[in-house]
Amino acid sequence: MYNQLFLLTLVICSTAVTGDINSTAIIEDLSELVLGTTDLDFDVEDYVNGYGYPFEEYEVETEDGYLLTVHRIPYGQNSSAEEGRPVALLMHGLVASSADFLFVGPNRSLALLLADEGYDVWLGNCRGNTFSRKHVTLDPDTSEAYWNFSFHEIGIYDLPAIISEIENVTGVLNISYVGHSQGCTIFYILTSLKPEYNDRILFHVSLAPALVTSLLGNIEVLRHTPLLTILLTIFCRDGSILQPICLVLISAFGGPTDQIVTSDLSTIVKAYPAGSSLKQLKHFLQSMETDDFRQYDYGLIGNLLKYKQLISPEYPLENVTVPVAIFNGGNDVLVSPPDIPLLVQRLPNVVNSTQIDGFNHLDFMIGRDAPSLVYSVVISLMNSYSGLGTKHFHA
Ligand SMILES: *[C@@H]1O[C@H](CO)[C@@H](O)[C@H](O)[C@H]1NC(C)=O
Ligand SMILES: *[C@@H]1O[C@H](CO)[C@@H](O)[C@H](O)[C@H]1NC(C)=O
Ligand SMILES: *[C@@H]1O[C@H](CO)[C@@H](O)[C@H](O)[C@H]1NC(C)=O
Ligand SMILES: *[C@@H]1O[C@H](CO)[C@@H](O)[C@H](O)[C@H]1NC(C)=O
Ligand SMILES: *[C@@H]1O[C@H](CO)[C@@H](O)[C@H](O)[C@H]1NC(C)=O
Ligand SMILES: *[C@@H]1O[C@H](CO)[C@@H](O)[C@H](O)[C@H]1NC(C)=O
Ligand SMILES: *[C@@H]1O[C@H](CO)[C@@H](O)[C@H](O)[C@H]1NC(C)=O
Ligand SMILES: *[C@@H]1O[C@H](CO)[C@@H](O)[C@H](O)[C@H]1NC(C)=O
Repeated sequence: MYNQLFLLTLVICSTAVTGDINSTAIIEDLSELVLGTTDLDFDVEDYVNGYGYPFEEYEVETEDGYLLTVHRIPYGQNSSAEEGRPVALLMHGLVASSADFLFVGPNRSLALLLADEGYDVWLGNCRGNTFSRKHVTLDPDTSEAYWNFSFHEIGIYDLPAIISEIENVTGVLNISYVGHSQGCTIFYILTSLKPEYNDRILFHVSLAPALVTSLLGNIEVLRHTPLLTILLTIFCRDGSILQPICLVLISAFGGPTDQIVTSDLSTIVKAYPAGSSLKQLKHFLQSMETDDFRQYDYGLIGNLLKYKQLISPEYPLENVTVPVAIFNGGNDVLVSPPDIPLLVQRLPNVVNSTQIDGFNHLDFMIGRDAPSLVYSVVISLMNSYSGLGTKHFHA
């Protein structure tokens, strides 16, 4: 089973990557799971309700026929439905899902903190993940055409459908948007190619934005861990049928960290990884190779047919006028720190860019200190743009 395979690689890699956490303890925790003592299905509704939060689910159809599941936590604990809450849309990363923002529970998870803060919280699920594996005509199990998408299509089709649904349900036109990893990539695709969305998004927070990912700059980090290098070489080789595992490996192990709370892992593996298309990985690998943020490269002839030019077009980041705050991790091997200033330079309206030393790629979702080091700042910035005023949350 995919999840169990994932767990085994998780064990091997946590041993290989993280010298500074207690591998013995992790292996004990995980072997229990691999042996099947835990139900690997994650029921988001039960989970959220179980902590005393309301939960709603919507199905949204995109322009190209994909059916997406959108989750909503309309208000917080000890609260009630009232009009006029600002909307926060949270978008997950590669091979991930809405559950990413929930895994670590009350007082720690960004979605629940925002609900308690006074937001109407919406959590999208991109096409192809566990919650959004549906289409009006194509069958994801049998149709290759279903999987013919990258994050480009997620940016230009999934996001508009989700934002339109939010508007239809709440009447709210202007929202705040928090992305993690690919959740940021799709924001930049949307707002650079469809300028009208710059007026619909009040404020954007990029957590570990995966855009211009020069992995080569990070080989250094990987070289210190021979086992991981071997694994990555086997799984990540171009053309390897094992590439989906590579994707999981690199996204699960976005770098060394001491931020893991081992007791979180049993929850996390219930819904992570949540799947995505191979084309997404290929598109990311292309940007690693060229160090550019471009549309999918179909080769010279393919590009000529599709784009009327030999090289696929760059996304015009200069056209993203939404105010943006960027947080990146000093230990992130997927989004290398030297790439952040390049992104900041191209964006016209960056209000803050902060590097969190010691954070890897996933720590922005599950790190022990994410609430105090990141969410606290994120929430006060969001409040100032959404008109909520002084924040209640103190980590
Ligand atoms: C690591 O965890 C194991 C099992 O919980 C424990 O027996 C061991 O003492 C721990 N080692 C360190 C160095 O903390
Ligand atoms: C909701 O009420 C419970 C019980 O009084 C309390 O423990 C919890 O902290 C409250 N939650 C919030 C977000 O205020
Ligand atoms: C969250 O924090 C509040 C106040 O500090 C506390 O009352 C509550 O029990 C905590 N909830 C959980 C699930 O830890
Ligand atoms: C995949 O989509 C692209 C454009 O989005 C199209 O040019 C191509 O023919 C499609 N390939 C398949 C196999 O459906
Ligand atoms: C929202 O409502 C408009 C107008 O009725 C409709 O065209 C649109 O498809 C709806 N959006 C979604 C995501 O259902
Ligand atoms: C958001 O849009 C509403 C109308 O839907 C408007 O009343 C409000 O002033 C806008 N808020 C901001 C901060 O622009
Ligand atoms: C970006 O903005 C410039 C200036 O408004 C405009 O000329 C250009 O067409 C835009 N690019 C795209 C791809 O929309
Ligand atoms: C950005 O946020 C950090 C963390 O809160 C803060 O220390 C820094 O002063 C802010 N920078 C700017 C330019 O606002």
